Amino acid sequence: MLPGGLSSIKSPVRDYFMIVCSCNVLSDHDVRTACQAEAPPRSTGQVYGCLGCSAQCGRCARTIRQIMDEALDAAAACNGCGRPST
Ligand code: FES
Repeated sequence: MLPGGLSSIKSPVRDYFMIVCSCNVLSDHDVRTACQAEAPPRSTGQVYGCLGCSAQCGRCARTIRQIMDEALDAAAACNGCGRPST
């Protein structure tokens, strides 16, 4: 137990999520979670579908694509060992 009754120290970055789709109220965390599925989405349309919604205005598509690319690249580089592949 830490002083002040804290049982652990959390990273402040983990406590905040950024809304990336205001029409469907999707966060960057939602998109990353969808990309961790056994069969990860390959298109932004599939991300919306995985999260139970569909594109409305489409302004978020580029941001969602960028988060998808980062998440899928990180998963491919990790390859389950926790270290970047060479
Ligand atoms: S902001 Fe995502 S569909 Fe409008």
